Amino acid sequence: MHYRELGRTGWKVSEISFGAWAIGGSWGETDDAESLGALHRALDLGVNFIDTADVYGDGRSERLIARLRKERRETVYVATKAGRRLSPHTADGYNAANLARFIEDSLRNLETDCLDLVQLHCPPTEVYYRPEVFGALDDLVRAGKIRHYGVSVEKVEEALKAIEYPGVQTVQIIFNAFRHRPAELFFPEARRRQVGVLARVPLASGLLSGRMSRASAFAADDHRNFNRSGQAFDRGETFSGVDFETGLQAVEELRSAAPEGVSLASFCLRWILMFDAVACAIPGAKRAAQAEENVAAGGLPPLTTEQMRKVRDVYDRYIRQQVHARW
Ligand SMILES: NC(=O)c1ccc[n+]([C@@H]2O[C@H](COP(=O)([O-])OP(=O)(O)OC[C@H]3O[C@@H](n4cnc5c(N)ncnc54)[C@H](OP(=O)(O)O)[C@@H]3O)[C@@H](O)[C@H]2O)c1
Repeated sequence: MHYRELGRTGWKVSEISFGAWAIGGSWGETDDAESLGALHRALDLGVNFIDTADVYGDGRSERLIARLRKERRETVYVATKAGRRLSPHTADGYNAANLARFIEDSLRNLETDCLDLVQLHCPPTEVYYRPEVFGALDDLVRAGKIRHYGVSVEKVEEALKAIEYPGVQTVQIIFNAFRHRPAELFFPEARRRQVGVLARVPLASGLLSGRMSRASAFAADDHRNFNRSGQAFDRGETFSGVDFETGLQAVEELRSAAPEGVSLASFCLRWILMFDAVACAIPGAKRAAQAEENVAAGGLPPLTTEQMRKVRDVYDRYIRQQVHARW
């Protein structure tokens, strides 16, 4: 495992880390023992950073991580999120009182007295134009409730706006072989300001593992079934906003770029690590074997110029038109 600086936090985080949404909920049924097995395996392999949120399974994901931490001695940084408990989910809801309340819930779920990192959870764009929200987060740092804060964004423009606030340490954004735009404007600016970038949805919800087909079926409570066209939350969070059929065609072409014996999942994660503005990718994993395959990406050699060109070419031909202007 290799480690990278996370912005100005002073932390060195595993370049392949762990996304803990699926083990909480909205991805079909999961088994807590199996989820814990995936988390343990990830830590065995050097993962030291986990991304979660208060709403993942209504605290289930956070509580699993609390259990994990009790069973392990290593330092594990845990990034959680706040804001999505709001209903309706409005900019006005992002106020000091609500944020303090959400953070108390996460402190309880994670069984700690100070949260490592709290991210605003894809708030409405208007929130980025309200300095008082970031002031409230500064107050929570001063009060010792949170160590650092950051944002999870939908759009590149939100990311660029958010990092104007000096307290913002991290930006979590969708970045993968099907989502290239963050590398254009945002990455150079994030580097300049020493803001840590967390690449989320790195496997396009599993599509980039190359294991899906037209016959793949998803349970009714899996967002890959119920959010395909953005019925529940931003469409970009499901298959990275790519229409499933187009995604499958693009994946077929991508396969030829991955070297013999290297899985498409590992190859696509290694592609993300080619961008040094990225502190880590946070692939979700429900099982130990998935965590292993994902971590293996860190051990691969850098992609060749030809492989980079191929990924870009597939993006340009199949994906760009569907996603580039939207996020
Ligand atoms: N708004 C936000 O802030 C937000 C939104 C989305 C995600 N996130 C964060 O980003 C993390 C990662 O994104 P994500 O979980 O949405 O998507 P992802 O990492 O692109 O895909 C994860 C899913 O792909 C499948 N998978 C993982 N590794 C695999 C492998 N090696 N081989 C085959 N299939 C594999 C698993 O599902 P199956 O086995 O069921 O196929 C897994 O749940 C989340 O866990 C969460 O922490 C944040």
